[in-house]
Amino acid sequence: MSDDEEEAKIESRLEGEDIYSPSEEFKKQANVNDPGIYEYAEENYEEFWADKAERLDWYEKWDEVLNWDAPHAEWFVNGKLNVSYNCIDRHVENGEGDKTAIIWEGEPLDETVEYTFSELQDEVSKFANALKDMGVEKGDIVTFYLPMVPELAIGLLACARIGAPHSVVFGGFSPSALNERINDAESKVLVTADGYYRRGGEIEMWEKAQEGVEDTPPLEKVVCVDRLGRDEVELDGDEEVYYHDIVEDQPTECEPEKMDAEDMLFLMYTSGTTGKPKGVVHTTGGYLTGVSATHDWVFDIKDDDVYWCTADIGWITGHSYIVYGPLANGTTTVMYEGTPDHPDKDRFWQIVEKHEVSKFYTAPTAIRMFMKWGEEYPEKHDLSTLKVLGSVGEPINPKAWKWYYEHIGGGECPIVDTWWQTETGMMMITPLPGITDLKPGSATKTFPGLKADVLDEDGNSVPTNEGGYLVVKRPWPSMLRTLYNEPERYVSTYWSEYDEETYFAGDGARIDEDDYFWVVGRLDDVLNVAGHRLSTMEMESALVDHPAVAEAAVVGKPDDMKGQVPVGYVILDSNYEPSDELAEELRGHVGEIIGPIGKPHAVRFSEDLPKTRSGKIMRRILKKLEKGESAGDTSTLRNPDIVEELKEKVSE
Ligand code: WT7
Repeated sequence: MSDDEEEAKIESRLEGEDIYSPSEEFKKQANVNDPGIYEYAEENYEEFWADKAERLDWYEKWDEVLNWDAPHAEWFVNGKLNVSYNCIDRHVENGEGDKTAIIWEGEPLDETVEYTFSELQDEVSKFANALKDMGVEKGDIVTFYLPMVPELAIGLLACARIGAPHSVVFGGFSPSALNERINDAESKVLVTADGYYRRGGEIEMWEKAQEGVEDTPPLEKVVCVDRLGRDEVELDGDEEVYYHDIVEDQPTECEPEKMDAEDMLFLMYTSGTTGKPKGVVHTTGGYLTGVSATHDWVFDIKDDDVYWCTADIGWITGHSYIVYGPLANGTTTVMYEGTPDHPDKDRFWQIVEKHEVSKFYTAPTAIRMFMKWGEEYPEKHDLSTLKVLGSVGEPINPKAWKWYYEHIGGGECPIVDTWWQTETGMMMITPLPGITDLKPGSATKTFPGLKADVLDEDGNSVPTNEGGYLVVKRPWPSMLRTLYNEPERYVSTYWSEYDEETYFAGDGARIDEDDYFWVVGRLDDVLNVAGHRLSTMEMESALVDHPAVAEAAVVGKPDDMKGQVPVGYVILDSNYEPSDELAEELRGHVGEIIGPIGKPHAVRFSEDLPKTRSGKIMRRILKKLEKGESAGDTSTLRNPDIVEELKEKVSE
C-alpha cells in the first residue's frame, strides 16, 4: 500500500469513531457546561442573543432585538453603542486599566511591545484625533494597507471610535488590488507603512503603496507608519505624513461617537465567483455581540488568559478574533509580526512559552507544516500553559488534528474546529469545549441560537451522511448586512439559491448520525489556498491580461500542505510559443496583479480547452484531471479529444 492509501485508510477509520470527551476537570471550570443551553437558545433565540448583547455597554438600549425582512436583517434596532468604548474604555473604568490589552511581538527576537488598556485608550484616542484633523468624518471609509504592527489594531479601534468604517487590505495583496479597493470605497485616507520584517529581511511596502495610490481620485492623505525606523521614506508635501508626526501632539482624550447598532463598522473585501471582489459590510451592535459571545464561549475565556490567534488582521479572522472579540471581552491578545520559522521553526512555541499563552488559534495549513517539521520543535518549549486550541480556515484532516492534540495540547486541550466565513463575521459551527464531544475533522455543531442544514439541489435536507450544500436557516447577529455598492449581488449570491430565508454558504458538507457537521470545502469557483480565499475568476482575468494569453482557465489542485493550489490552463496567442520561461513569466504576472498568494502553482499550455458546444469552458473536467480522477462523460463536449491530451500533460 502506498503512503497515501495508508493515510486514507487510517483517516477513514478515524472518522466518526474516535471521540474526545471533555475531562471532568475541564467541564467543571468551563464558562458553559450545561448542554441544556442548546435547547434554551433554540426555543428563545432572540432572548438568547439579547442576553449576549447585554454583555456589552450601550448608551441606549434597543427597541427590538431583530427586524428580519428577509434577506435583510437589523439587529438591536435603535440601540446605540461604541465599539472602541466597549473594547477599551469600559475595562479601564472597571479598574482594569493596568491589565495588558495587546502583546505585540515583532519578528526580531528582542522586540516586544505591550499596551495596557489605559495605554491603548491613549494611543487610540490620539490617532482618532489625528484622523479627525485630516478631515475624516463619521461614515468616511479609511483604508489600511499594513503589516502586523500595533498601529493596525490601534487604527481599527480609532476608526470605530469616531464612526469611520475601515477597510483593511491584506499587506500581501498587490498594488492593483489596493488601488481597486481604495477607489471602490472612495477612501480619503490610506494608512500604510515603510515596510516590515520577514524571515530576518526587510520587505518594502511604501513603494507598493505608492503604486497602488496612482489614479485614486478620492484619496487625499497617505499616512506612513515608520515600522523599520529608518525615517527615510520621501514624503510628498502635506499629502503624505508620518504616523508618529500626526499623533505626537494629539490629546489622549477623544469622546467615542454614539453609533447606531446598524451603522457600518467595517468593510472587508473578499473573493467571489466573479473577477470583482465583494465588499462585505459588517455593522456595529450585532457584530460585536456575536464575536464577543463566541470568543468567550468557544475559547472558554478567563480573566487571566493570554490568547493568541496567529491570523493576519488583513483577514476576517484577525478582525473578529485578534481585535474585536478578545478586546470586547477584556482579554489579553497577542499579535505577531513574522513567520513561524524565524529565526527557527520553533518560533510559535517560543512565543507561547514566553508569554504563557493559554488559548491558541491557528489554521490547519500551519498545523500540517508543523507536523512536517517534526515534534522536536514544540518539544523544546514548555507549552503547559495551553488550555484550549483552535482551528479555522479549512477542514482539518484527522491526522493533523491528532498531531495538534498530542504534540501541542499535550493530550489535554480540547480542540475547537470552527467553521465560519468573512460573511458570517463570527464562528458558526463549532464545539463548546466544556460540553461537546469532539470528533477529529468535524466542526461539530452550530453555536447555540443558530440553525444550519445541508440541502440537496431541490432544497430538501439530505439524508444522514450524504453530501449536499451547507446553508444557514436563520439570521444571526454578526451576519453581513449587504455587499458594498452591490445590494443586488448580496441577494443573488447568498439568498437566491433556495429562498430568501436560506443563506447559501457555498460549501459542501454532510451531517452524520450524531448531527455533527462535516464541512468538505467550497463547491464554487472559489479556492482555499492555505486558508486564504482566492477567486479563480480573478486569476483568469490576470492571466488574460498578459499579451501572450488568448484564453485561460484556473482550477484548484489538491495539495497536502496548502489544501488547494491554483493551476492555470492557457491557450496562447498565435504569436507566442509555449516555453518554461513563458510559464514562469505568466505565474509572475498573476502574482503581480493579485499578490504572491495568487501565483499559480503551475501553468499548463494547451491548443484548446474542454468546451461545451456553446463554448463554455468545462472547468469541472479540468478539476477532475488535477485530482487524478477520470474525466467522466465527455460526450457533450465540442472537443472530447482534448481531454486525453490534457490528461497526459497533467501526468507529466
Ligand atoms: C471559507 C471561508 C473564517 C475565517 C477564515 C476564512 C472554509 C473556514 C473552516 C472549517 C472547514 C472551513 C470554508 C468557508 N472554512 N473554516 N473549520 N472547516 N472549512 O474565511 O476567507 O471567508 O473563507 O473557509 O470553505 O466557506 P474566508
